[in-house]
Amino acid sequence: MYQPAITATGVFVPPEAISNDDLVAAFNAYADRVNAENAAAIAAGEMAAIPHSSSEFIVKASGIENRYVMDRSGVLDPARMYPNLRQRSDDDPGIMAEMALAACTAALEKAGRQGDEVDLVICAASNMERAYPAVAIEIQKLLGAGGFAFDMNVACSSATFGIQAAADMIRSGSVRRALVVNPEITSGHLEWRDRDCHFIFGDVATATLIERQDDAAHGFIIRSTRCATEFSNAIRNNNGFLRRNRPDGMQDRRDMQFMQEGRKVFKEVLPLVCAHIGAHLTEESVPANSLKRLWLHQANKTMNDFIGRKVLGRDPEPGEQPNILQEFANTSSAGSIIAFDRFSDDLAPGEMGLICSFGAGYSVGSVIVERY
Ligand code: COA
Repeated sequence: MYQPAITATGVFVPPEAISNDDLVAAFNAYADRVNAENAAAIAAGEMAAIPHSSSEFIVKASGIENRYVMDRSGVLDPARMYPNLRQRSDDDPGIMAEMALAACTAALEKAGRQGDEVDLVICAASNMERAYPAVAIEIQKLLGAGGFAFDMNVACSSATFGIQAAADMIRSGSVRRALVVNPEITSGHLEWRDRDCHFIFGDVATATLIERQDDAAHGFIIRSTRCATEFSNAIRNNNGFLRRNRPDGMQDRRDMQFMQEGRKVFKEVLPLVCAHIGAHLTEESVPANSLKRLWLHQANKTMNDFIGRKVLGRDPEPGEQPNILQEFANTSSAGSIIAFDRFSDDLAPGEMGLICSFGAGYSVGSVIVERY
């Protein structure tokens, strides 16, 4: 048995940003346009007018101030309201593989490693751009990595579930060095025309390099991982390969994009996550007060404040539970890894922290790490 460790992480930040004010201006222009087109139906009471969005609401309800995207122009075009991504030939690298490569390269550079030293690539994300071949195998080729690669999807929990899969394989000796990569093009499956959720997501890619502890001078020992799932329809996306086979499958349907019952998710996921982390710490005999940092999934600031208080049994000190969602929004599986990437270097050897992600499924994954 070998001791797995996170030895580096990397983040690819998309080149374009959208502030809340940009987003709200585009949404309101879209709403005005649709309302004008349907003025008669609205006046006759046959259709409700689309109300305006507001930056104040977004910050208050979520803590989000900004998001990065792969294409701003399509998202902010009131006649379009989704990204405009370049059509690529099958011989060009796919957009997910390209983002993933940038994040993986950043992680490998930090660790002083080459792509050919990697023998497992897991592409763990909330959506894949095609059914097959696996995006992970394309990334493996672009990296010049050996071994094998596969895709996995556990929505917002994909990173921690991927870390558990890779860590278990390293522990058993079936692989030596793994990259778990999370290219998230959430702008592609967000419904930008829905006021209740149009502000939630942003694009990014993160990569986590996992090796045997003995192979690297420093990093974070993966002391323990714990994953759990419980079926729920409260976050759902019905897009899939059977779409054209269904009578109205090819229509512009709301359920082909991200849907959620936000309040329900809030109420149901919080107790699930708090109980999960509590049980994980108890099982591993790690008292909560020995955790130096919580790197939580980045969906909602109030949610994170609540989890921090519940897990630590007190208000977290500034810096104990860093948020990055104000800059990145919810980047699905990547959020907790961005927080870890930005706020972990200052931990001293022996100090511990917990990475935790949660979301659709429902799913929750936690990773207890210790600096060495
Ligand atoms: N601008 C202005 N007002 C808005 C608005 C917007 N963009 N969106 C909604 N509102 C209004 C609603 O219509 C509602 O008005 P009403 O009270 O008159 O009915 C009011 O604001 C509150 O809406 P609600 O949807 O209940 O807000 P909320 O406080 O629950 O916040 C979320 C919404 C999505 C931020 C919050 O529920 C959340 O974060 N949930 C968990 C999300 C999550 O973790 N998802 C996981 C995804 S992976």
